[in-house]
Amino acid sequence: MSEPPSTDSVITVHPLPVPTGSRVDFGAQLCNADLENISAADFDVICNALYTHQLIVFKDQASLSPKAQYHLTRLFDPESDVYGHGKAVGAKSVLHPDLKTIPHQPQVQVIGNGHVASFEGLENIQLKHPHHRSFHRDPVPEREDRTATRFYRWHIDAALYGLDPPKVTSLLAVRVPKTENQLLCYDDGSGDVLSVPRGSTVFASSYKMYDLLSEEDKKFVRGTKVSYAPHPYTWMANAKSRPDGLGMVSEGLELERSSLPEIDDSMIKIYPMCWKNPKTGKLALQVHPSAVQELHLEDGSVIDDLEKVREIVHRLQRPGIAPDLVYAVDWDEGDLALFNNHGVLHSVTGSFLPEEVRIFRQCNLAASEPPLEP
Ligand SMILES: [Fe+2]
Repeated sequence: MSEPPSTDSVITVHPLPVPTGSRVDFGAQLCNADLENISAADFDVICNALYTHQLIVFKDQASLSPKAQYHLTRLFDPESDVYGHGKAVGAKSVLHPDLKTIPHQPQVQVIGNGHVASFEGLENIQLKHPHHRSFHRDPVPEREDRTATRFYRWHIDAALYGLDPPKVTSLLAVRVPKTENQLLCYDDGSGDVLSVPRGSTVFASSYKMYDLLSEEDKKFVRGTKVSYAPHPYTWMANAKSRPDGLGMVSEGLELERSSLPEIDDSMIKIYPMCWKNPKTGKLALQVHPSAVQELHLEDGSVIDDLEKVREIVHRLQRPGIAPDLVYAVDWDEGDLALFNNHGVLHSVTGSFLPEEVRIFRQCNLAASEPPLEP
């Protein structure tokens, strides 16, 4: 069923089809948009659709310029301007290998796989699809690597230190090698599996994650704040992920304060566990599970035992990534997706051979204000 267009815009909104039996209740495709020339009425429709459906997809946008992608992304937060992770990602950070910046539009990054001779002013670049082997403690055995995969890392796009989490991320699929599906294995003792297109980006609703909680847990998450580690992606550089990609194993491998870049305590981020949707008022349980360091409870007490903090967060979040709650994007070349980075978690999946060339453009901007409190 489609929603009626706004009187002044021809853009129409159509909920994404989901497999039979799926409990996914987000995602929409938007049609008839001219994204190089967005009117105020068009943006009204786009913005409403994003905060209603959390993930919106425009087809056939292969010719969209990096500048137009940046402008569209920025419309959601006109006061923002710098890339979500800032100007420099530290050399030791787990994010370091994944990002290449477009020289003429530095808020837009190129990600993907394989060798690219020339793209948007970048020459002879080598892209590497993040493989869970580099991040998980116990990866899928090598012999199963072509057929089996994992959630690489469930996350929010956010520096979580110094900068506030981008409101929206845009992802443009420029080049997509199409091959057979892979079987995504949770490998967490649940037996859960999910068939995903190779290299699918997967999404889970953090509103659903909240709604699934018991009344007691809802009260707990409404009153609790998360303190994120300073320089979180460097702090976690030697630590390893759980097999479901939803947070880290606790083995004491996080870097000590003395091994991190200089810390400015005023840049440490403490956010509520729940972030409010600006249009619907719904609450999302929105926590970056790998970067959490402490929980600050409503009564003023602090849980700083890292293993305990992670167990609590994992127990609260895990029901929300059940196989029938995960939307796995089957990318076509030209797809432009935008997602509500304050209302969904997402993850890379899959593995590619070096000769399988894949190119995506990603843009997000550090928010001009903290997430909306409950
Ligand atoms: Fe991301």
